[in-house]
Parts: sequence; structure tokens; C-alpha cells
Amino acid sequence: MNLELQRVAYRSDATRPDFALQLLAEILAVSDRNNRRDGLTGVLVVGEGRFFQVLEGASQDLDRTLARIGADPRHTGI
Ligand SMILES: Cc1cc2nc3c(=O)[nH]c(=O)nc-3n(C[C@H](O)[C@H](O)[C@H](O)COP(=O)(O)O)c2cc1C
Repeated sequence: MNLELQRVAYRSDATRPDFALQLLAEILAVSDRNNRRDGLTGVLVVGEGRFFQVLEGASQDLDRTLARIGADPRHTGI
């Protein structure tokens, strides 16, 4: 097993200009569940219609998670 940690950081733009707290709550709930399962840690910063996220974990888990995040229509311009 390869336990070496990898770290990734990205920024993106919310697709909807009226990005709501409800949407953020949904993202956080799913992220909390999945990231615990996959042993990922990180931070998500949200403001002025933009996201900034840092994620850290094993590279396979990071790759899978980033593929899902990259395909998420709630943001763009990653
Ligand atoms: C800015 C942003 C950050 C996200 N961060 C995470 C994350 O850290 N972990 C995660 O599993 N999903 C994250 N998501 C949600 C994913 O895009 C996707 O909806 C989710 O992983 C699907 O999980 P499910 O297949 O269990 O429903 C994020 C979405 C956005 C828009």
C-alpha cells in the first residue's frame, strides 16, 4: 500500500451567480461523507462566486475525487 500523501489545489467559478447556501450545504454534506470514506482531508473556501479547494490524500483517491469534482456542473473554469 502506498501511503504517500499527495496534495492538490484549484480554483473555480460557480456556474450560477446566485450560488446559495443551500447548494453549499449539499456540496459539504456529500464531500464530508465521501472524503471520510476515502481518507481525504482538505479545505474549501467559498466567496464572491468562486471556490478555492485544497485536498490531500492518497493519489488514487485524489484522482477519483477530482474526476467527480471536475465533471460537476455547479462550477467551471477549474
Ligand atoms: C467546489 C466543489 C467542491 C467539491 N468538493 C468535493 C470533495 O471534496 N469531495 C467529494 O466527494 N465531492 C466534492 N464535490 C462534489 C462532487 O462534484 C460530486 O458531486 C460528488 O463527489 C458526488 O458524490 P456521489 O457520487 O457520492 O454522489 C465538490 C463539488 C464542488 C462544486
